[in-house]
Amino acid sequence: MAFQKDGGIQKVLQDIFLQIQHGQWITILGHNGSGKSTLAKVLTGIVEPSYGVVNRDLHGPVQMVFQNPDAQIVGETVSEDILFGLENYNFPLDQCQERVAKALQQVGLSGYEQVPVGILSGGQKQLLCLASAIAVDPHVIILDEATSMLDPASRQRIRAVMKEWHSLGKTIVWLTQDMEEVVLGQVVVVLSEGRLAYQGTPRQFFYAPLSNQMSACRMLNFKPPFVVEVVEYLRKDGLAMAVEDLPIKPEELSKVVTRR
Ligand SMILES: Nc1ncnc2c1ncn2[C@@H]1O[C@H](COP(=O)(O)OP(=O)(O)OP(=O)(O)O)[C@@H](O)[C@H]1O
Ligand SMILES: [Mg+2]
Repeated sequence: MAFQKDGGIQKVLQDIFLQIQHGQWITILGHNGSGKSTLAKVLTGIVEPSYGVVNRDLHGPVQMVFQNPDAQIVGETVSEDILFGLENYNFPLDQCQERVAKALQQVGLSGYEQVPVGILSGGQKQLLCLASAIAVDPHVIILDEATSMLDPASRQRIRAVMKEWHSLGKTIVWLTQDMEEVVLGQVVVVLSEGRLAYQGTPRQFFYAPLSNQMSACRMLNFKPPFVVEVVEYLRKDGLAMAVEDLPIKPEELSKVVTRR
């Protein structure tokens, strides 16, 4: 993928070979400017790569939640915004109000139906964009740092909605800088200066095979989640476990600590 810049051409994505399976939950990590949003737009087809091929073998609608909610909101009021999206998919009218209400309830914006979008806070706008995406019940959802402005409770709520959704066989592509979101996925991919710098499971990403080695996460300059930091200390202090058994979630850490 290349863009015109300063009279020249800047390659923003290159040598990307990535397969996303139906029903997979994949996290795409990358520092600012690494190419995440561009990759998200290539995946949805908003921009086509200047060379290379994208095969989209889709089984249903794709929804993307953009990094900047203002770029996505089209309605005058909250419910109008969600209805716009539904109209694009020709849902029967009698189903629409029900879908609006359900989506707003899922993101925690019930009662906001008639609120003008202009007075929503940044976080509320993000929640509205998430509601608009969920309302369509897409097969694939691509979230581009879609929780970056949310408070911890809203973040937790969105994670719970996504977990439930994934259990129904949906595909989730979550572009994020939030390491707590990485542990939710099955696969983590790291972009660095437009190239694939890592592909593996979250556990392999967070832990090197040996305790005296640096993890891919550390090597690529990311700060792991709190649980992983604790386990890094435990490993230095003698915790000997195979990587596939090392905890990355609080409930997994609890099992290890209580067993010792
Ligand atoms: N339309 C465009 N024209 C020119 N350059 C662009 C365009 N869109 C993106 N870029 C450049 O491509 C690179 C990657 O941008 P991108 O927005 O994909 O990064 P990102 O990983 O999403 O960053 P962030 O974490 O800050 O959102 C940047 O150097 C950016 O300046
Ligand atoms: Mg971005």
